[in-house]
Amino acid sequence: MPCYQIAILPGDGIGPEVTREAERVILAAAQNFDFEVNLEHWPIGGTALDQFDTPFPDTTRDACLAADAVFLGALGGPKWDHETGSRRCEAALLSLRKALGGFANLRPVIVPHSLVNSSPLRSDRVIDTDLLIVRELTGGIYFGIPRSNTQEIASNTMTYSRSEIERIARLAFNLARQRKGHLTSVDKANVLEVSQLWRSVVTEIHQLEFSDVELEHLYIDNAAIQLILRPSQFDVLLTGNLFGDILSDLAGTLPGSLGILPSASMGGKIGLFEPIHGSAPDIVGKGYANPGGAILSATMLLDTLGQTEAGACIKHGVVRTLDTGVITRDLGGTASTTEFGNSVLRHAFEFLPSAV
Ligand code: NAD
Ligand code: IPM
Ligand code: MN
Repeated sequence: MPCYQIAILPGDGIGPEVTREAERVILAAAQNFDFEVNLEHWPIGGTALDQFDTPFPDTTRDACLAADAVFLGALGGPKWDHETGSRRCEAALLSLRKALGGFANLRPVIVPHSLVNSSPLRSDRVIDTDLLIVRELTGGIYFGIPRSNTQEIASNTMTYSRSEIERIARLAFNLARQRKGHLTSVDKANVLEVSQLWRSVVTEIHQLEFSDVELEHLYIDNAAIQLILRPSQFDVLLTGNLFGDILSDLAGTLPGSLGILPSASMGGKIGLFEPIHGSAPDIVGKGYANPGGAILSATMLLDTLGQTEAGACIKHGVVRTLDTGVITRDLGGTASTTEFGNSVLRHAFEFLPSAV
């Protein structure tokens, strides 16, 4: 029986609250299917800074590099916002991503029927939304050098090399091929040289290797409005690090809350799974954070470990939970974090022969 080592990094704010629910579904999945998991907790972010004087202790880094998969809740918060450079919580997250090497951050956005009316957007617009944002995660302006701040002038550099664009484009085209066969590449090629290279490399890869997939290019400003006006036109949205960060939070308006959106970072040695939301300081400790994004990230983790049936069961549990009206406050309901998790567990395995 396989036994997977999973490094769990709950982090700060609502991170530990939603991580607890993700852990419960991973443990239940292992119990219902033929595998074992060993979940080990490691500090990261502000909690680590308070205890170990660094937001990314070496022990955490080593444990992640030795694991089969890494799960992260969320990190950062007002208490640590004055920190700069490598003492910033967010810098720890970027170092972790770089260390694990997952250059492709997959952020699926689906609007289940039960959430069509939770969206702030008209239901006829959000219905049938089923898109995948493929965000480049280990390059672009987040990592480009030079970067500086003299307190008089500050700068960052948006850089992409041909090979960085080629590898993310190939990964995204392959995913589009397995989905609806449509890829939209988002850039700012009307202004930025880095986007001009991005666009020409994506076009080249398309012509040479993926001409069966339909390719469209959009400027980021137009992509933002199209995402709101007619999200169902999209299948795979491929974009760089910064544009992907912004578009994915914006996409949170489609199901009604970014609390329900998961992510998986692929392409490196070890996968990293994290909800797209942050530490939500405004609701920490209240007990009603939406654990949906964390739980769905856990399903992506299970899929990547090859436990796709287990992943499908948990996804079913989430869909049934929403269908039966167990909905957290961010989506207009009254369920607590734990009630949501309980409901997912109650429904997840209901169709397994052993549960009948
Ligand atoms: P945020 O995502 O934490 O919160 C934005 C809004 O969404 C808030 O109103 C919050 O209450 C709500 N929200 C987010 N997740 C929710 C959930 N699961 N359930 C219900 N409501 C939810 O973004 P922010 O306020 O801009 O950032 C707070 C801190 O988190 C910052 O320090 C930021 O750098 C950090 N952050 C971390 C990550 C991460 O760890 N992956 C991601 C984004 C932001
Ligand atoms: C995200 C977050 C991070 C990012 C921050 C916290 C570094 O916003 O995962 O979307 O910008 O990538
Ligand atoms: Mn973000």
